[in-house]
Amino acid sequence: MELNKDINQFDIPVAKRTYLNNSNLIFFKKLLIFSPFLFLFLSVSVLRLIRNIELKPPTNNKFQVERNHDQRILGHLPYNEIPKEKLVLIEPNIEVHSDMRNSLLKMREEARKDGINLVFLSGYRSINLQNDIFYSLKSIRNQEALVRARVSAPPGYSEHSTGFAIDIGDATQRETDFETEFENTQAFRWLKKNAAKFHFKLSFDKDNKYIDYEPWHWRYEGSIEALKIFESSNRNF
Ligand code: DAL
Ligand code: ZN
Repeated sequence: MELNKDINQFDIPVAKRTYLNNSNLIFFKKLLIFSPFLFLFLSVSVLRLIRNIELKPPTNNKFQVERNHDQRILGHLPYNEIPKEKLVLIEPNIEVHSDMRNSLLKMREEARKDGINLVFLSGYRSINLQNDIFYSLKSIRNQEALVRARVSAPPGYSEHSTGFAIDIGDATQRETDFETEFENTQAFRWLKKNAAKFHFKLSFDKDNKYIDYEPWHWRYEGSIEALKIFESSNRNF
C-alpha cells in the first residue's frame, strides 16, 4: 500500500537495549545502599572546605595588624602591675618605676632651665585604683564601656600600672590639666621637642582610633624592661 510505504519511511528502529549483567547489578545495588553515606561524606567535606576557606586569614598586612589586636580590650593592651619594691616616691602622692625616676627628674630640671615648669599629675596607679577610676566614673557619668575606654583604661590595661607612665601639666596653666588644650601650652611644646632625649614618648597621639588624644600622658621607654612592656603597643600602631 502506498500509505504504509510512506509511514515505513519514518518507522523508528527498535531501540538497541543493553542489559545489565549480574556483576553490574550488584555494583549498582551497593551504590544504592551506600549512596546516603556517600552523600553525607561529600556534604561534610564540602562544608569543612568552605569553613577552612573562611577561617584562613588573608595574607595582607592590614589583617595581621588587626589579628594582633586580639589581646586588647576596647583598644587597650594588658599590663601587669609593677612589683612594689620597684616603686619610688618622687613627690607626695606620685610614685614611679625606679628605672624612670632619674630621667624624669632630669627632664623637669632641663625644662626649668628653659623657663618651663612641668607639673607631675599622676604616676603609678594600682590596678585597684584603676578599677575605681574606670567603673566608678563610668557609672557616675552614665557611660558605656566603649565610651569610657576612650579616656580611661580598664583595670589591668593601664600603662600607669607599670610605673612607666606619667601625666604632666603646665604649672602656669593648671586649667589645662588632663585637657586636650594642654597641647597649646609651652610645657607641651617643650615636651614635643625634647621628651625623646629623656626617653619619653607620647602614648596616645591623635592617630589612635580607640583612645582619645592625651597630650599630657607620656611613657618611659629608656630601659629594656620598659621597651619589652611597650613592644606590642609600638608594633601595632
Ligand atoms: N588615661 C589612660 C588611657 C589610662 O587610663 O591609662
Ligand atoms: Zn595618663
